[in-house]
Amino acid sequence: MLRVVVCVSGGGTNLQAIIDGIAQGAIFNTEIVRVVCNNPGAGALERAGKAGIESVCVSPKDYGNREQFEEALIRSVEEAKPDLIVLAGFMVKVPAALIRKYENRIINIHPSLIPAFCGTGYYGLRVHEAALSRGVKITGATVHFVDEGMDTGPIIMQKAVEVHEDDTPETLQRRVMENAEWVILPWCINLIASGQVKVENGKVTVAE
Ligand code: GRF
Repeated sequence: MLRVVVCVSGGGTNLQAIIDGIAQGAIFNTEIVRVVCNNPGAGALERAGKAGIESVCVSPKDYGNREQFEEALIRSVEEAKPDLIVLAGFMVKVPAALIRKYENRIINIHPSLIPAFCGTGYYGLRVHEAALSRGVKITGATVHFVDEGMDTGPIIMQKAVEVHEDDTPETLQRRVMENAEWVILPWCINLIASGQVKVENGKVTVAE
């Protein structure tokens, strides 16, 4: 059984896609053992509660400085003894110490086709605003392993989504979530749970 900790900050629709994927059998042999959140008001916490999943909130406001917050965050993840850590709309830079310990065992969902519209400052609606302002015809989502950079780790899977001429950042975000994020994130977890994902020289291969 793959033990998964999901880190969230917002509405939790990607968390919900994982919960539903496990419930429907689309994600093999996997259990979400804990949800870790940095935002006490996050809708994701409600989703975790409804699914009977233990959640822990580690808010920077509760700690005297960044180092103490990061120590508490690392502890809250490690206590759950995860095999895989999933960043699902998580708006906190993962401490380097955790990334080093969980090399190629932390994945993130980013709402663009990396290397487009990613890196520092590209998150949430800003990604889709940038895509619309550049006038791209195709965008999408990417699941990648997390390294010490920002959205720079080995890419596991991507899914493209058409941009419509009348799109607003909100309508585009919704289509990318529905047609790409909520599809490839559960799929990648399933592939990892099935032992099909390998990383060699910074490149991902998926065994049939
Ligand atoms: C999504 O667009 C996701 O790609 C980004 O955060 C947004 C909110 O995700 N990382 P969620 O609804 O909290 O899963």
